[in-house]
Amino acid sequence: MGGTSVAALRGVSLAMKAGDFTAIMGPSGCGKSTLLQLCGAMDRADSGSLRLDGRDIASLNDNDLTRLRRERIGFVFQFFNLLPTLSVLENIAMPLLLARQPEGQAFDKARALAARVGIEHRLDHMPAQISGGEAQRAALARAVIHEPALLIADEPTGSLDSSNGQLVLQLFQELNRDLGIAILMATHDQSVAAIASRTIRMKDGLMIDSN
Ligand SMILES: Nc1ncnc2c1ncn2[C@@H]1O[C@H](COP(=O)(O)OP(=O)(O)O)[C@@H](O)[C@H]1O
Ligand SMILES: [Mg+2]
Repeated sequence: MGGTSVAALRGVSLAMKAGDFTAIMGPSGCGKSTLLQLCGAMDRADSGSLRLDGRDIASLNDNDLTRLRRERIGFVFQFFNLLPTLSVLENIAMPLLLARQPEGQAFDKARALAARVGIEHRLDHMPAQISGGEAQRAALARAVIHEPALLIADEPTGSLDSSNGQLVLQLFQELNRDLGIAILMATHDQSVAAIASRTIRMKDGLMIDSN
């Protein structure tokens, strides 16, 4: 940053298998989001190695990285990040449309998934017209519609009240169990981390504890 270099991560090692559910905990600024962005191939590390499906991500060019993200990774963010000018249905179907699946097929799948997360009555709404809990359920449906190997979630309940947070977490658990999608979730809330099968604690860019 400017003339100062900030070491966001100073040494992390993590392995996940299909179907794992791992929570990353630690205080603000410890490097959780940076780690998630690297694992999601949204950022490049200065050093170290990162493999997904046995492929070295660092060696991929931008086109291959884009395809990898589109096909193998799903993202859920704290503030939902739905596209404001698209309907809820279009938002959920977007990963399949980007992958050039036929529209009818993409929208059918989006409707089925919307029913599963309980927002089938909001499909024609715009993101600004639905509640935070509904928006996050739509974002979750969008994140898994292409059946990614890895779902990355950065503080996914951080802007929800506790009952909506619980509902969203329950859906994470179901999708992890039923679809076998590996989940890597950052949170600073112990009760959120408790639903994961494993918790890794970070401090100052380092992993300090894992169970
Ligand atoms: N783009 C950036 N430029 C400079 N420093 C950054 C940037 N992104 C993150 N950092 C710094 O890296 C560290 C880790 O940040 P982050 O991964 O966002 O932590 P967390 O998600 O755990 O709150 C913090 O000290 C933060 O200020
Ligand atoms: Mg963060």
